[in-house]
Amino acid sequence: MNGPFPAGDRRPSVRSRLAGALAAPGGALLLLRAFLGVTFVFAGLQKLANPDFLSTTAAGSFRQQLRGSIITSPLHHLLDPVLHAPVFFAVLIALGEIAVGLGTLLGLLGRLAATGGALLSLSFFLTVSFRDSPYYYGADIVFLFAWTPFVLGGSGAWSLDGVYARRAERARAALSDATPGGEPTKRQSAATKQRAAQIERRMFLQKTMAAGLVGFSGATLGALVSAIGRFLHTAPRSGTAGPLGAGGTPATSSGGTAASTTTATTATVAPAPTGTGTTTVPPATTSAPTGPVPKGTRIGSAVDVPVGGAATFTDPAQQVPALVVQTRKGQFRAFSAVCPHAGCTVQFDGTNNVFACPCHGSLFNAATGAVLQGPAPTGLAPIPVALGPNGQLYVDG
Ligand code: FES
Repeated sequence: MNGPFPAGDRRPSVRSRLAGALAAPGGALLLLRAFLGVTFVFAGLQKLANPDFLSTTAAGSFRQQLRGSIITSPLHHLLDPVLHAPVFFAVLIALGEIAVGLGTLLGLLGRLAATGGALLSLSFFLTVSFRDSPYYYGADIVFLFAWTPFVLGGSGAWSLDGVYARRAERARAALSDATPGGEPTKRQSAATKQRAAQIERRMFLQKTMAAGLVGFSGATLGALVSAIGRFLHTAPRSGTAGPLGAGGTPATSSGGTAASTTTATTATVAPAPTGTGTTTVPPATTSAPTGPVPKGTRIGSAVDVPVGGAATFTDPAQQVPALVVQTRKGQFRAFSAVCPHAGCTVQFDGTNNVFACPCHGSLFNAATGAVLQGPAPTGLAPIPVALGPNGQLYVDG
């Protein structure tokens, strides 16, 4: 016999090995396993690479998503304590996703990794996706059920778990071959048991060391990606909304000019229904800049809102972020900036004249607040706004 194969035997071809792997337990799920593994590693790295996600103040941060989720999630009592350490939990979730993804890809501690993946998907479903309607529009519930074959059956073919299982099997077979035939003595039985326990311990140790190595590699990769993300993080693009002040620096716009107090007209906007996401805001009514100062809370000077641009303010009634836009010269509309999907703060995109949610990509019409693209189920809540003869903007509250 020359080499590992008997004379006349041929090494199995890649095709037959692939067919064998597909026929093995879990083989038919290889593609799904690869998808879940890659997706979870990518999701974890993406979170770490985004400094905004780990920030405590930025739009689209984990903290902000959490605050939005608390409003709608059935787990809101459990989420309150998480708000006290949002960065810690954000990093924990990202590292958890990377660990689950790597464990799934390598098939190392596959059941444990799949259980972790299922728990993460369940928690995302009960928080971020809970308001998705119908329920199957959200991806998290699909991920949750995609994990179940691996929770129940382990990694299956082409996995490190399989390699370790075969090694242990061979060691146990060698042990039973070495055991003399006939009725073993008490001493022989004890020695066999001890040897079998040693094999189990050795396999456990090897698996733990491999898991430690993979965990260390995942954490190092995460730290590296996070550092690169911070390094490459750029300032906000032009065309975004600046804060509304009392006559401060005008916000940047998509090309319009700031409204002048000398030419200002009073614009009032009636609230639009928000139930369908396809409703429109009734046309703004305008009147001469005379008469009494409007009722409500002054939010800032109209000159801070460029024509075709937007500015941010805090809605005094709800104490949440809000946006005011000047759709035409002298015509203002204001909306809550809280995304109806999971509560992130939407941003004004002056280039496309939309409000964009940084968390899951919902887009809203900048003039009406209506949904242009989900997953947000409804439009942005309008806030009645009026321009006073003094050039100041006023809202209810
Ligand atoms: S919070 Fe999910 S799209 Fe806005």
